[in-house]
Amino acid sequence: MPTLLNIQSSPRGHHSISRTLSHDFVAAWQAKHPDGKVVSRDLAENNLPFVGIPWITGIFLPAEQHTPGMQRALADSDELIAELFAADEILIGTPMYNFTVPANLKAWIDLIVRPRVTHSGPPERKGLVLGKSCKIIIASGGIYDEGLPAAASDYESGYLKRVLGFIGITDVEVILAGGTAAVAFGSTTVEELVRQFRPAVLAAVR
Ligand SMILES: Cc1cc2nc3c(=O)[nH]c(=O)nc-3n(C[C@H](O)[C@H](O)[C@H](O)COP(=O)(O)O)c2cc1C
Repeated sequence: MPTLLNIQSSPRGHHSISRTLSHDFVAAWQAKHPDGKVVSRDLAENNLPFVGIPWITGIFLPAEQHTPGMQRALADSDELIAELFAADEILIGTPMYNFTVPANLKAWIDLIVRPRVTHSGPPERKGLVLGKSCKIIIASGGIYDEGLPAAASDYESGYLKRVLGFIGITDVEVILAGGTAAVAFGSTTVEELVRQFRPAVLAAVR
């Protein structure tokens, strides 16, 4: 029974292009894997904490030396990492904010990239989250497709590939759903825009 971990970052609910396309992906994935399990992690619904001193200190200490503050700080991280290890496939649906990931997705990343748990740490720096694939749907107001001058300003897709690769997830496919500003400016509709990207989203379902 395969498990899909569905991570969503946009706070815009049903107005969100990344969520709408992710919804299509999940529906097609479920049709393909009727016995599959989908686990949802909604980063916009419940804010994750930022890493602080208890977390940073705690990750280097054995569990028996953890203070109650460290235990609390590490509990979220443990839960998110367990979700990641339990998944066969991962879907990340996210906006582009200021050329990169929204803060809620960065908070998730900071909690799951952990030495000796999701990567070996120095000197090898080997990823430990192996055998997974990840699909990423990025919605952006502008268009950052390869070959366009604006592509150089996309600090999101390369960053996500780098950080996921760092923890061992190297089978990563990014779908850029650019041009969503046209909806805000009234020159197209969500449905028209989504129709443009749906084939790429459905083709990514394995
Ligand atoms: C705070 C903020 C920052 C944004 N920064 C960018 C940006 O750097 N580049 C861009 O093309 N669009 C940017 N946008 C537009 C969003 O990427 C766009 O509205 C996208 O569709 C949001 O994803 P969603 O539809 O899934 O919510 C920004 C929007 C917000 C609210």
